[in-house]
Amino acid sequence: MLGKIARVSLLVGAVLTIAPNSPLRTSVAFAIIGYLITYSIIPKVGPSFIKIGLKGKDMSKPPPVSEIPETMGLVAASTYLFLMFGLIPFIFFKYLVSFGSWANDEQMTENYENQYQALKDNKLFPHNKLAEYLSAILCLQSTTLLGLLDDLFDIRWRHKFFLPAVASLPLLIVYYVDFSVTSIVVPKFVTDFPGGLYFLDIINFFVKYGNHAVTSITGLSFRTLQTDYAVPDDAPKLIDLGIFYYVYMSAISIFSPNSINILAGINGLEVGQSVVLAIIFLINDFCYLFTENIPQAAYDSHLFSVIFIIPFLGVSLALLQYNWFPAKAFVGDTYCYFSGMVFAIVGILGHFSKTLIIFLVPQILNFIYSAPQLFHIVPCPRHRLPKFNVKDGLMYPSLGELKKPNRLNKLILNLLGLVRLIKLERDPKSGEIIKFSNMTIINLCLVWFGPMREDTLCLVLLGIQFFVGLSMIIVRHTVGPWLFGYDNLSWGVK
Ligand code: UD1
Ligand code: MG
Repeated sequence: MLGKIARVSLLVGAVLTIAPNSPLRTSVAFAIIGYLITYSIIPKVGPSFIKIGLKGKDMSKPPPVSEIPETMGLVAASTYLFLMFGLIPFIFFKYLVSFGSWANDEQMTENYENQYQALKDNKLFPHNKLAEYLSAILCLQSTTLLGLLDDLFDIRWRHKFFLPAVASLPLLIVYYVDFSVTSIVVPKFVTDFPGGLYFLDIINFFVKYGNHAVTSITGLSFRTLQTDYAVPDDAPKLIDLGIFYYVYMSAISIFSPNSINILAGINGLEVGQSVVLAIIFLINDFCYLFTENIPQAAYDSHLFSVIFIIPFLGVSLALLQYNWFPAKAFVGDTYCYFSGMVFAIVGILGHFSKTLIIFLVPQILNFIYSAPQLFHIVPCPRHRLPKFNVKDGLMYPSLGELKKPNRLNKLILNLLGLVRLIKLERDPKSGEIIKFSNMTIINLCLVWFGPMREDTLCLVLLGIQFFVGLSMIIVRHTVGPWLFGYDNLSWGVK
C-alpha cells in the first residue's frame, strides 16, 4: 500500500506533468491524479456504503466472512467523470467568437481558421469535437446512474440487460445531430464473392425501406448526407445503414457493459479484465499514434480513444488494488456498466467498433456459452460463480441443478458434455443428468485445468484476455486489411 510521502510525490509529479497544448501528457497527469483520488477515497467511504446496505459477502472465503463494501466502482466512475470535465481546457482548442463575425458565416469560418492556425504546432482538438466529447461524458454519467440504481435495487436480469441502451441515448442523439455518418465499408470478400453484389442489393433494398418507414413515422432522416461525403471512385464500396447503424451502436452499448458484468464473481476479475482491455486498446491506439503519415482522421480517433482510456486506467488500477484477492471491496454493477460503456464509447466515437468487437472475444465467447442459461433453456441460478471448497481453499466449478429435464435441455447438456464443454453429474441408477457445471468461461477453466486458488484462476483468465487481445491486434493489422480490402493502418499483408 502507498505511503503518504509516495502519494504526495506522485501528486506533485502529476501536477508538473500537466502541460499546455499536450493532450496526451496531460491525460497521463490526470490519470495519476485519478488514481490517487480513488485510492484515497475508497477506504474512507467504505464504512458509509456498508451502513446504507451497499455491502456484500465474499462467497469464496472461509468463515467467518465479514461484509465488505459493494459498489466501490462508484468512486472510480465519479472521479473519472470529474477529471474528464477538468481535462476539457487542456485538450480542446479555445475558440473565441468575435462580435463582428456573429452574423456572417464566412467571417466566422475565417476567424475560426485564423485562430486555430495561430496556435503554434496546434495539437489540440478542434472546438467542434467538443459536442462528441460531452455526449460521451453524458452517456457515462447516465450509465453510472443506472448502474447505481441496479446496485441499490438489484434489478432483475431481464430488465437490467437493457439499461445500457437507455444510458447510451445521449451518445446516439448527439451523434445524430453532430456527425450522422451511417455508412460502413463493405468487406472486399463480400463484393468479390460470386453473387456478393446481388446479396448487397438485397440488403440495400431492406435497409432502404426500413429507413423510409422510420422517416415517415418520425420525420427524421437517418442517412449520411451524400453532399457532405463525396466518395472517390477507387474507394471501397459503402453501404449506408441509416437507422440500422444506430441499432448497431445501441447493440454494442448493450453488449459491452453486460458482457463485463457476466464475466464476474471472483476477486479482481471485473476490474482486472477492464485493465487488461484498457492496455490492449492503448497498444492498438499507440500503433496509430506512432506511425507516420496516417490519415489525420485516424490519428484524431485514436488520440480521442487514448484520452478516454488513460484516465480510466488510472482510476481502475486504484480500484483493482482493493478488489484484488483477498478483496476488501466489491466493484458493483456500477463499475461493470461504466467500464463496458467506456469501451463502447471509444469504439463508436473512434469509428473502430469492429476492432472493439474482436478485442472482446473472451467476453463474446462467455456470452454465447452462457446463452442457454441466460435464456433459461437450462436452469440459471442467481449466482454462477465457482464454488469455494473450505477444506483445500480451492475453487471448483459450481453446479446448476436440472430439476425439470426436457428434450431440448437434455440434448444441449449432453452435447456440451460430449465435447467436454461442461462437467455433468448423473444419477447413478438411471444415468439421467442431475447437475451440470454453470456455463461461464470461469467454470470452464476449472473444468479443463482442474481446481485452483481464486487469485490463480483470475490470473489465468486475465492472461487469456491479454493473449487474445494481443493476437487480435496482430490479426487486425494483417488479416483485417486483406479481408476488407481497405485500412488506415496495415502491416504489409495487403
Ligand atoms: C453476475 C452473474 C452471476 C455472478 C455475479 C458475481 C450472470 C447472469 N450473472 O450477476 O452469475 O455470480 O455476477 O458478481 O452471469 N461476489 C463474490 N466475489 C467476487 C465478486 C462478487 O463473492 O469477487 C459476490 C458477492 O456476494 C457480491 C455479489 O457477488 O455481493 C455481486 O453480485 P452482482 O454483481 O450483483 O451479480 P450480477 O451482476 O447480477
Ligand atoms: Mg455484477
